[in-house]
Amino acid sequence: MAVAERPEVAMQLNLRPVISFHGVSKVYPTGTVALRDVELAVLQGDFCFLVGASGAGKSTLVRLLIREEVASTGRIFVDGQEITRMARRRLPKLRRKFGIVFQDYKLLSKRTVAQNVAFALQVTRPGQRHLREKVEEVLWIVGLEDKVDKYPDELSGGEQQRVAIARALVHRPRIFVADEPTGNLDPDTSWGIVQLLLQINHRGTTVLMATHNREVVDLVRRRVIAIEGGRVIRDEAQGSYLRPGEATL
Ligand SMILES: Nc1ncnc2c1ncn2[C@@H]1O[C@H](COP(=O)(O)OP(=O)(O)OP(=O)(O)O)[C@@H](O)[C@H]1O
Ligand SMILES: [Mg+2]
Repeated sequence: MAVAERPEVAMQLNLRPVISFHGVSKVYPTGTVALRDVELAVLQGDFCFLVGASGAGKSTLVRLLIREEVASTGRIFVDGQEITRMARRRLPKLRRKFGIVFQDYKLLSKRTVAQNVAFALQVTRPGQRHLREKVEEVLWIVGLEDKVDKYPDELSGGEQQRVAIARALVHRPRIFVADEPTGNLDPDTSWGIVQLLLQINHRGTTVLMATHNREVVDLVRRRVIAIEGGRVIRDEAQGSYLRPGEATL
């Protein structure tokens, strides 16, 4: 059982959830109920997989967390602050707490690797000092120090995802959110990306990764939060993609 599921243990260890959902539901304007009464607590430094069939509600959960969408009911806290009713002007500061990557890399095709990463920092923190060093440091972390001056279309899919990860890391986020980061990659390359996320987690960053990648989830054996029909149906500390007898996701 994860420490986050044992409030008394978390309190003794003086651990406060960095993310918590309390009775959160999301109904889209179309009437689709994408999340139902979600309760969730993630501690600083946790590594969580979010699994579930297509349409289960994983991306919705991610979008609520970064306040790209607003919960219909319930409350969400990030880093001790309630974000559900947070004023729009405070959202940029909230978003800087997150490093976010998606299945598609969303790189700027006319900019080099280094410029893509630097651009993210210039937008979020204009006037940033030591820009070049910061960019080089994150590119080194993701193993792309020799690709700084390449353009995205000169890179493989896995390398492009690494650039996206570097770009997400450059403002030193507390929480790293990856929504199907390996969705377009072959198994070996996917494995490399997951290793990188584990390394980022090892440096103290909380990681939440939505994935359909069964092999990865079953090999890594970290916390697994399974969603079905908008509900959290399973939350295990060293979980697997499926529980024996569970329907194929
Ligand atoms: N913007 C939207 N407007 C209306 N309905 C939406 C919207 N986004 C998602 N949905 C619906 O909400 C439900 C949950 O979708 P969501 O994208 O969160 O699933 P998911 O678990 O991320 O799926 P996948 O594995 O395919 O990415 C689905 O029924 C989907 O059709
Ligand atoms: Mg999704």
